[in-house]
Amino acid sequence: MEETVQIVYQGKTYTFPLVEGTEGERAIDIRRLRQKTGLITLDPGYANTGSCQSAITFMDGEKGILRYRGIPIEQLAERASFKETSYLLINGRLPNQKELNRFSVLLNDHSLVHEDMRLFYQSFPRGSHPMGILSAMVNALRSFYPELQSLEEEINITVTRLLAKVRTMAAMSYKISRGHKVVYPRPDLAYSANFLNMMFDSPVRPYVIDEDVVRALEVFWILHADHEQNCSTSAVRMVGSGRVNLYAAISAGISALWGPLHGGANQAVIEMLTEVHEKGIPVRRLVERAKDKKDPFRLMGFGHRVYKTYDPRARIIKKWCHLLLDKLRSADPLLDIAMELEEIALKDDYFIENNLYPNVDFYSGIVLRAIGFPTNMFTVLFAIGRLPGWIAQWKESMDDPDWRIARPRQIYVGQRQCDYIPLEERK
Ligand code: ACO
Repeated sequence: MEETVQIVYQGKTYTFPLVEGTEGERAIDIRRLRQKTGLITLDPGYANTGSCQSAITFMDGEKGILRYRGIPIEQLAERASFKETSYLLINGRLPNQKELNRFSVLLNDHSLVHEDMRLFYQSFPRGSHPMGILSAMVNALRSFYPELQSLEEEINITVTRLLAKVRTMAAMSYKISRGHKVVYPRPDLAYSANFLNMMFDSPVRPYVIDEDVVRALEVFWILHADHEQNCSTSAVRMVGSGRVNLYAAISAGISALWGPLHGGANQAVIEMLTEVHEKGIPVRRLVERAKDKKDPFRLMGFGHRVYKTYDPRARIIKKWCHLLLDKLRSADPLLDIAMELEEIALKDDYFIENNLYPNVDFYSGIVLRAIGFPTNMFTVLFAIGRLPGWIAQWKESMDDPDWRIARPRQIYVGQRQCDYIPLEERK
C-alpha cells in the first residue's frame, strides 16, 4: 500500500503522498498543499525543501558519501579523467572509447574563442575580479554564438562549446590581467594539460608539463564537478526555469559561486591562513574568534549544510596537498597552519556540537597554490570544475516532466493597506 502523510489542520485531516528516492530518502509531496489547505510552507535557506527529483548526484551528509551517477567520488578521483567525469554527469553513463574520442575532438574543435571577445577583456578596469569577468563573458557568448536550428543540436553544441571555451576564457583573462601575450589552445594537448599550458606558458619561459601536476588539477576538477542542489546549481536551475538560454543560466551559476560562503571560500581560506602566517596570529585565537557569537568571523573552509561529518572531498584533496608538495619538493607554511587549525577545531566542543568539519575548500587552495595559480583565480578554477554539473542539472531540468517555472511564495509581514500621501503633506 502506498504510504502517505496526514496533516491535521483546523480539525480536518489532509493526506499527502510520500516520495522515496532510490537511496531511501523520503519526502512529503506537498504539491497540492495550498490547493487543499490554503497553507504554504516556510523554510528559509531551503534546509528542509527538495526542489526537484534528480538522478545525477547522491550525497549522504551523515555518512560522508558522494557519488556521481552512482559511482563513488573516491573511485572517480582515483581512476577517471575529468573529461570522462564530465561525460558521465552530462550523459548519465561513462563513455566508451569511441565516444570519448569523439568528445575529445569536439572539445578541441570548440576551444578557440572569437577574437572580438578579446576587446571585451581590455574594457574591464584593472583589478577586476576574474569571477565577475567570467560571468559577464559567458553571458556574452550568446551574442557570438546565437541559436542553432534544433534544440537537440543546440544543446549538444552549446554544452561542448561551454566546456571548451570557458577553460580558454579563464586562461585568457589571467594572461590579459597580467598584460601578457595570450596563449592559444594546442590540439596535441589534453584538456587539463592544455589549460595549464594556456595559463603558464610564456615566450620567454616555455611551460614544462608535469603529469603529477596535471593529475592534481584533474582530481581538483573531478571533486568539484557536481554537488547536487547547492547554491550555484540552484541558481542555474532557477534562472534556467524561465527557459533562458544555457549561457545565461551558467553565468548566473558563476555569480552565485563567487560568494565567500560558497565557492569563494577557497580564496577566503588562503587569505585567512596567509594573515595568520604573516601576522603570527596564534591558531587557537582563530578558533576562539569563530566561537565568539559577538564576532561575525567564521572559520573559512569549515562547516557544510549537508555534511555533518568529514567532507569526503576534503579527505582526498588533503592527501593531494601532501603528494604534490612532496613531489615538488617544496613546503608550504600554510599547510602546517591548516593542519594545526584542523586538529584544534576537531577537538573543540563547539565544533563537535555543531558538526563542523573541514570542507573541500579548506585544503584545495594549498594544491592550487602549489601548482602556481594566483589566489584570485581559485574560484574560477572551481567554476571550470563545476561546469559539467551545472550543465547536467540544467539539461535534466529541461527534460523534467514536472518542470514549472521556479517561483517560491512568501509570508508578507509588511505594512497593511494604507493611502498614498501627496509629497507636500509628508513630514
Ligand atoms: N565557523 C564558525 N561557526 C560556524 C561555521 C564556521 N565556519 N559554520 C557554521 N557555524 C555555526 C553557525 O554560526 C551556527 O551556529 P548557531 O546555530 O549557534 O548560530 C551553526 O554553526 C550552524 O551554521 P549555519 O550557518 O546555520 O549552517 P548553514 O548550513 O546555514 O551554513 C556554511 C553552511 C555556509 C557552509 C557555513 O558552515 C559557513 O559559513 N562556513 C564557512 C564558509 C565556507 O567554508 N563555505 C564553503 C562551503 S562548501 C562550498 O560551498 C563549496
